[in-house]
Amino acid sequence: MSWWHDAVFYEIYVRSFADSNGDGVGDLEGIRARLPYLRELGVDAIWLTPFYPSPGADHGYDVSDYVDVDPLFGTLDDFDALVRDAHALDLRVIADIVPNHSSREHPWFRRALAHPSGPDRARYVFRPGRGDGPPNNWPSNWGGPAWTKDEASGEWYLHLFAPEQPDLDWHTKQVRDDFDDILRFWLARGIDGFRIDVAAALYKDATLADELEPFPESKFSTDWRRAVDQPEVHDVYRNWRRMTGDEKVLVGEVVFSDPARMTPYLRDDELHMAFNFTLLFQAWNADGIRDAIDRSIAALADVAAPPTWVLENHDVTRLPTRYGGGAEGLRRARAAALLLLALPGPAFLYQGQELGLEEVDLPDEVRQDPIFHRMKGVRKGRDGCRVPLPWENGPPGFGFTTGEPWLPIPAEWTEKTVERQRADAQSVLALYEQALAERPTGDFAWRESPRGTLVFTRGELTCAVNVDGGPLPLEGNAVVASEPMSRLLPPGAAVWLE
Ligand code: NOJ
Repeated sequence: MSWWHDAVFYEIYVRSFADSNGDGVGDLEGIRARLPYLRELGVDAIWLTPFYPSPGADHGYDVSDYVDVDPLFGTLDDFDALVRDAHALDLRVIADIVPNHSSREHPWFRRALAHPSGPDRARYVFRPGRGDGPPNNWPSNWGGPAWTKDEASGEWYLHLFAPEQPDLDWHTKQVRDDFDDILRFWLARGIDGFRIDVAAALYKDATLADELEPFPESKFSTDWRRAVDQPEVHDVYRNWRRMTGDEKVLVGEVVFSDPARMTPYLRDDELHMAFNFTLLFQAWNADGIRDAIDRSIAALADVAAPPTWVLENHDVTRLPTRYGGGAEGLRRARAAALLLLALPGPAFLYQGQELGLEEVDLPDEVRQDPIFHRMKGVRKGRDGCRVPLPWENGPPGFGFTTGEPWLPIPAEWTEKTVERQRADAQSVLALYEQALAERPTGDFAWRESPRGTLVFTRGELTCAVNVDGGPLPLEGNAVVASEPMSRLLPPGAAVWLE
């Protein structure tokens, strides 16, 4: 079994983890200085969100140079030093790769605009309109049409996200060749793998057929689109898998509500893993959680890839808030941590999850997410889960920065800092540290348990989660518990027993 089959990955949202130079934005040197924290926490690998040169229209998910570091975050030397130090601490490093779209500022796109009959035009999807309107009815994931008119040529270009993020045309060989080189560049620098952004969407239906209307209101942005999830994409991943082998990993952001639709991406010669968001989109409800787990495991029965488990990331509302907020939301989030880390397969943590941070209700004036601006505030966007980490002390910098953080850190987080939580054996951080140290291996099997509760074994260890049932009598010795408890497990709590 390779290292990643049961690894715990820790997502670092680079802007918000640690700032070394006082400009209020996190950077690579800041991360390097905090690596010992991650070692002590007990994770196996870090995933860095995009740190490449970018105008920042979508905070790095709009790349203008795929083989360099944005000066905001440091230099290539800083990157090399970070990888070296991480490896010395036995931490693997994976980087986000954004192949679906580039920035509008990428030289490829600038040249494509400047020379409509030049070779760069074919890297993107430029098409004549239909009458006065765009070529078809495809909507952007963030509101409005997925097409913007290039006034100079009169043609429209495709962008499934913001207009600043033109989609690349993967039918064009040059695009495929360029990404082979980009992967090789980072692999040669010692990276341990890639997280692939919007992995199911690289190829769009070449006929550009209209989507069926009305468009569903779905949390799963690609679920209903017939234009994506095209068969050609699998050859890309077969090729990339040949480049990474089995020790370096490809983790796809393949987002479908039915986990069975992920399976083709996880065939033995394609991606090693895909994010499985079934738990993340599941409310705190025992039957729903059990069903999400069963469907996730069943979907992968015929491939070697393990199911993965995710409760938070930089795109979704923080877990304690989703579970109702306040003391009750936090209790449930603590219990969910023991569920997450007992399930079979890799788990992905998002920075600050280990501190039990809640979503921050930011004032509109400081919000930066293009979703907020494009949707005119109808959707608040993702800034509330991207507030920088509170390391120590208090406002404004909390040890994150010596300057002004790019998003304000709430004064109440003085109680939630790493420093405070380290000194408290009952803190969320202490719980994560214990759970990561005691994380079970071994076969997974459900045990019978009363309604509202979930009980399963992993080898010698039993994990009991009381979601919304009556008090559950416990047998065995508690190894890790989500809160102090007697022999009865109350609803909203979990324990590992031996
Ligand atoms: C998914 C990323 O996680 C998200 O942050 C980004 O905005 C979109 N892909 C577009 O790149």
